[in-house]
Amino acid sequence: MDKLQKEIKIAASILSADFSNLGNELKAVDDAGVDMIHIDVMDGSFVPNITLGAPVVSKIRPFTEKQFDVHLMINNPGKHVDDFCKAGSDIITIHLEADEHPIRTLEYIRLKGIKAGVSINPATHESNLEYVLDYCDMILIMLVNPGFGGQKFIPSTLKKLEKVRKLIDDSDYAIRLEVDGGVGVGNIREIADAGADMFVAGSAIFGSKDYSKVISQMRAKLEGAARPV
Ligand code: DX5
Ligand code: ZN
Repeated sequence: MDKLQKEIKIAASILSADFSNLGNELKAVDDAGVDMIHIDVMDGSFVPNITLGAPVVSKIRPFTEKQFDVHLMINNPGKHVDDFCKAGSDIITIHLEADEHPIRTLEYIRLKGIKAGVSINPATHESNLEYVLDYCDMILIMLVNPGFGGQKFIPSTLKKLEKVRKLIDDSDYAIRLEVDGGVGVGNIREIADAGADMFVAGSAIFGSKDYSKVISQMRAKLEGAARPV
């Protein structure tokens, strides 16, 4: 596996951004040195909250050149995935729990030249991932129950993360391992040591006055972590 594949990345989740000023919020986190923009799409069915759809993704696309990491927390994502491909996504992640035929959807995303991600909730067993390894570029482990920003991470998810790290390393695939929910300066190192190489942070970044300070503090904590920064 080449070293670049393992570079640690920090993604800012716009769920905690000022929605009345999204374009400028994107520019601000871009300037502050974030690697990716994480976009949370919620349908009020798979999760209890409703956020935004593909038209908003395409409207905010011109505000930054950073990659769009689109997290679909929606039922039957296969029905909507094409819209998100067209809207300018670089990675599209679906939930294993929300799709009866995830392999078909993941294959479709890849066919469109977009990286395919698969996510599992805190209570979903990681063994389910074994059967989709051939079809994904990224695995997203939820550290909280999806639906809202600003929640505390669930400690048992760290054990799961270690197991998924092993699953990936044993597979010989260069699959990225992303974590989402409750990530901040205080726990990012512990989460990195459990095997994550991509970190989503919403409230930790957008809830602070100085975006670049938080992002540098996170990077400082990650220095020397098992995955090279
Ligand atoms: C939660 C979302 C997250 C959320 C993370 O369902 O998927 O991306 O924005 O927010 P924080 O970092 O505040 O937990
Ligand atoms: Zn998310």
